[in-house]
Amino acid sequence: ASRGKRIVAQGGDLDQAVAGQAITLVLEDEVEVSRGNMLVSPAARPQVADQFAANIVWFDDQALLPGRSYILRTETDQVSATVTDLKYRVNVNDFAHEAAKSLDINEVGVCNLSTRAPIAFDPFAENRTTGAFILIDRITNATVGAGMILHSLRRAENIHWQSLDVGKRGRSDLKNQRPAVFWFTGLSGSGKSTIANLFEKKLFASGRHTYILDGDNVRHGLNRDLGFTDADRVENIRRVAEVAKLMADAGLIVIVSFISPFSAERRMARELMAEGEFVEVFVDTPFEECARRDPKGLYARALSGEIKNFTGVDSPYEAPENPEIHLQTLGRSPQEMAEALEHWLIERDIAEEQYDNGGGI
Ligand code: ADX
Repeated sequence: ASRGKRIVAQGGDLDQAVAGQAITLVLEDEVEVSRGNMLVSPAARPQVADQFAANIVWFDDQALLPGRSYILRTETDQVSATVTDLKYRVNVNDFAHEAAKSLDINEVGVCNLSTRAPIAFDPFAENRTTGAFILIDRITNATVGAGMILHSLRRAENIHWQSLDVGKRGRSDLKNQRPAVFWFTGLSGSGKSTIANLFEKKLFASGRHTYILDGDNVRHGLNRDLGFTDADRVENIRRVAEVAKLMADAGLIVIVSFISPFSAERRMARELMAEGEFVEVFVDTPFEECARRDPKGLYARALSGEIKNFTGVDSPYEAPENPEIHLQTLGRSPQEMAEALEHWLIERDIAEEQYDNGGGI
C-alpha cells in the first residue's frame, strides 16, 4: 500500500488525472511496480486467482478443446491457460444450454479455466477492462477466442501446494540416475511399443529404475473413459503427461509410448517437465508400411470405414519438426534403435555430470 505523491505530466504537475491521459505517478513509498502490475484502490481490490469461470466466444476453425494449452492475455497479464471443464454451449438462437465437448467457430460457451500462474482480475460484470481476456494459439499466434470472466473458483483459494522434504533430487540420487521422460510418438503400428520394450529391458539390465506408460495399457485403466475424437486424445495426452511428470518427480526414467498425434499436446508435455528432461522420440514409419504390417488388424478395418477417427486415415498425425531423436525405422532393427536410445541417454548423463561439476549445483 502506498499513496500518490505527485502526478507528473508534460508541462507540469497535475492535481488530478482521468482515464486516457498519459501521466507519470510518483508514489510516497518505494514499492516495486512494473509493467503489467495493477494500481488499485484499497476499497476495490481485484481478485487474484488461477482458476475461474468465464464465458467464451470461439473464433477459430480449429475447435476449442478442453485440456489444450492456450495463451491467455488480459489487459495486464499473459499466462498459459487451459479450459478444465466446458460446462455448456449456449445456443445463440434460443439461449438454451447444450452439453458440449468442444467449441466450434462462432460458438459461445461457459467454462472453467485454469492458468499456470495467478492473475489479477475483476468479474466482467464489474469491470469490462479488467474482466476481459483473449485466448491465443501457442503455435500459430492467432487470436482464437475471447472471454468474459464470471467469477473465481473457490477451489483456487482452498488448495495450496504442499511442500515436502524429500525432493526429486534426493529420490533420483538414491537411484543413482537422472530422471528423463522419453516421449515416443508415431503412427499406430510404427513400432513404438516394440522399441520401448527393448529399450526398457536394456535400462533395467544396467540397473536403472524405469517405467513404461503405453497407450493401449493406460487406456484400459486411468483413461478407459476416453475414445479417439480430437477432444478425447487431448485429454488422453494431458493425463499421461501429468502422470509422467509425477514419475519423473519420483526419480524414474519414464518411457511414454502414445501416438500423441498433435504437436500442441506434445509441446504441453515438454513444458511440464524440467529443462532437458523431455526427450521427444519420433518413431518414423511411413503410413503404407504401418498399414502393411497391421499387427492388430486395425488398418484394414479403418480403411474399410469400420473404425472411425483412425490416425492417418481420417484423423490427422502432426509429425514432430525437431525431435531430440528421430528414428527412421525402415531397414533398421528394433534392437539397433534401442541401443541408439541407450547411447543417447549415456551421452546426456555425461554432459550433465560435467555441467554439474562445473556449475556446482
Ligand atoms: S492417442 O492418439 O490418444 O495418443 P493412444 O496411443 O492412446 O492414441 O492409443 C492408440 C492405440 O489405440 C493404437 O495403437 C491402437 O491399438 C488403438 N486404436 C483404436 N482405435 C484407434 C483409432 N481410431 N486411432 C488410433 N488408434 C486406435
